Amino acid sequence: MNPHVIVLGNEKGGTGKSTIAMHVVVYLLSKGLEVGTVDVDARQGTLSRYLELRRSAVGNVKLPEHVAIFRSEDNDRRKAHLLESEAFYAAMEKLGHCNFVVIDTPGNDTHLSQLAHAQADTLITPLNDSFVDLDVLVKVSNQDTKTLHPSIYAEMVWNQRKERASRGGKPIDWIVIRNRLTTLYTKNRKDINAVLEALAKRIGFRLGTGFCERVIFKELFLSGLTLLDLEQSNMAMNISHVSARQELRELINFMKLPNL
Ligand SMILES: Nc1ncnc2c1ncn2[C@@H]1O[C@H](COP(=O)(O)OP(=O)(O)OP(=O)(O)O)[C@@H](O)[C@H]1O
Ligand SMILES: [Mg+2]
Repeated sequence: MNPHVIVLGNEKGGTGKSTIAMHVVVYLLSKGLEVGTVDVDARQGTLSRYLELRRSAVGNVKLPEHVAIFRSEDNDRRKAHLLESEAFYAAMEKLGHCNFVVIDTPGNDTHLSQLAHAQADTLITPLNDSFVDLDVLVKVSNQDTKTLHPSIYAEMVWNQRKERASRGGKPIDWIVIRNRLTTLYTKNRKDINAVLEALAKRIGFRLGTGFCERVIFKELFLSGLTLLDLEQSNMAMNISHVSARQELRELINFMKLPNL
């Protein structure tokens, strides 16, 4: 059995990769599946810390088998890459018995992040609803908001897709979602939607619905909880929490994961 690998990636910081990774992990665990997690952004370590908080705050809770991988400090770049590759493939082997492996990556281009992307069966790229975030995916004309050409991150994914194909791997299912959407239907939101819809076919991703801006995501971190365990918190459930859970369910369904 090979695990299905889910990678959270975007060369832009703070778009919600770690938060969404944690929610997907807790969802998969709640279905009784064996889940492994790899944090290749171990220096920042948001996913590692979230899991640690969960372990200490929630008694007797099922956790994923977790591996955090730090960037090599070796000054020789080639040697550093070699050490990182070794650590990464050792982690993948260790988690080889899992149904799913979820990998959280940093908001910039690193060798470890590239290794992770090349392993992705499903790649989820969250974007904030802004042309600043869109810029790492595609260059957009400031005259008419028509897309000009794919930019750094889209090119990186393209290269990893090629790398995977050369190894005979099945194609990466790339899903782009918007995060922290305002509930207001603004011109900005409409423009970004139009660009993403046009781009989806051209560079080969599926456009999911995403998550609205909700303060609950910030409130949950320190308690190690997610939207899926609100019953265990002393927070009163409100309509925003219910909607956020619905958004998570929609993402999971949209991913069309095996064994679910
Ligand atoms: N839908 C949301 N509504 C409100 N806040 C959110 C939402 N999603 C994420 N956040 C908040 O945005 C911040 C960044 O989220 P997160 O750390 O998950 O992003 P990231 O992409 O992993 O960042 P980095 O690139 O630095 O690793 C956090 O404070 C998080 O709580
Ligand atoms: Mg992160």
